[in-house]
Amino acid sequence: RDGGAAASSDAARSSAASSRAAAPAVPAVPPLGPADFKPRRHLGRGRFGEVLLTTHVASGGTFAMKVLHKKLLYNSKLRERARNERMINGQLGAHPFVVKMRYAFVTPKCLCLVLELAPCGELFQLITNHDSGSFTGKTFGRKFPEQAARFYVAESLLALEFLHGNDVLYRDLKPENVLINADGHVTISDFGLSKPGVHDPLKGARSMCGTPEYLAPEILRGTHEHGLAADWWTTGCLLYELLGGQPPWYTSPSKDRDRKKLFERITTAPLKMPRGVKPRLSKDGEHLLRGLLHKDNAVRLGTDLGAAALKTHKFFAMVDFDALLAKQVEPPFSPRTLVSGDDVGADEAVAWDDIQPEASATVHKMDIPDHRFNEIFAKFEYRSKA
Ligand code: ADE
Repeated sequence: RDGGAAASSDAARSSAASSRAAAPAVPAVPPLGPADFKPRRHLGRGRFGEVLLTTHVASGGTFAMKVLHKKLLYNSKLRERARNERMINGQLGAHPFVVKMRYAFVTPKCLCLVLELAPCGELFQLITNHDSGSFTGKTFGRKFPEQAARFYVAESLLALEFLHGNDVLYRDLKPENVLINADGHVTISDFGLSKPGVHDPLKGARSMCGTPEYLAPEILRGTHEHGLAADWWTTGCLLYELLGGQPPWYTSPSKDRDRKKLFERITTAPLKMPRGVKPRLSKDGEHLLRGLLHKDNAVRLGTDLGAAALKTHKFFAMVDFDALLAKQVEPPFSPRTLVSGDDVGADEAVAWDDIQPEASATVHKMDIPDHRFNEIFAKFEYRSKA
């Protein structure tokens, strides 16, 4: 019997083996390419490429497609940033306030990230486009009432908490990167300057990069490494700009063309509270700004306790962060959809061949041969499960 059992199990094994051998080969999924996406019109431009409204041909879905021009990624640092961006987008889209990537693919000339559309565009569009009736509420110019600023900064800080929890230094928080989705909540986008593997508030990153007005003093000084605390500095800059209409230490280009002057002010000039905040800036708001915009990152708010230090600050006392994370807190402005799936304004009939670097873009000679470039991005393609 034992032998029989053995024999039958052998038979079972061999029949399983033969049925495996006979199974039809699973058809290989063809790689994604330009034919799968129809570019429709420009949504914005960046240093290495542009963002286009696009339709995914097979599903008819509307997305934002970020296109990076290969020829602008002419050295290893730039290519590493593109790889980081793809990697971070692929791993960290599972947060309510972080943009979700749906596809990624390469074309002969570009690297493309296809992202869920945040139809209301940048945070400031909510307020600067008020004349076109794009949000319901009063006209505030470029300034947000404290209550509204609190909401957008609170949602942004939850996104940063998530990124930091995954050892990612974001490094590019600014009103242009805080997008607004269809129901008025925040979507943080653009990981082009982000650095993975950073878990210390004071170290882990070295490169001097970011948006000039938002650069933390420790990045500008460049004498030491910087770490996650640089994101709490930019959180302070964001709150300041939402309240006052301009970043702290801002000098208008007409008054002062010199970047050096701006950098000197950021590193040495005392912080002046934003002017013209209506109604007056609260004591808690001022205290939070001073804590986040502390030039010494060792004592900056957030350095010791991370996001918890901000969430427990009195400025946020009335915010229920659990409800906020669950999107149960109603946004201060109910945006009329600026760009929606069906009503996206006129298409520009953009063809893939029209997607070219701007004439003013810096193009250096590529430091590696084509085949090496393609090897580096061989695993770029991505399709989300959902
Ligand atoms: N610009 C950059 N990313 C975007 C997105 N996901 N939606 C809308 N505009 C964008």
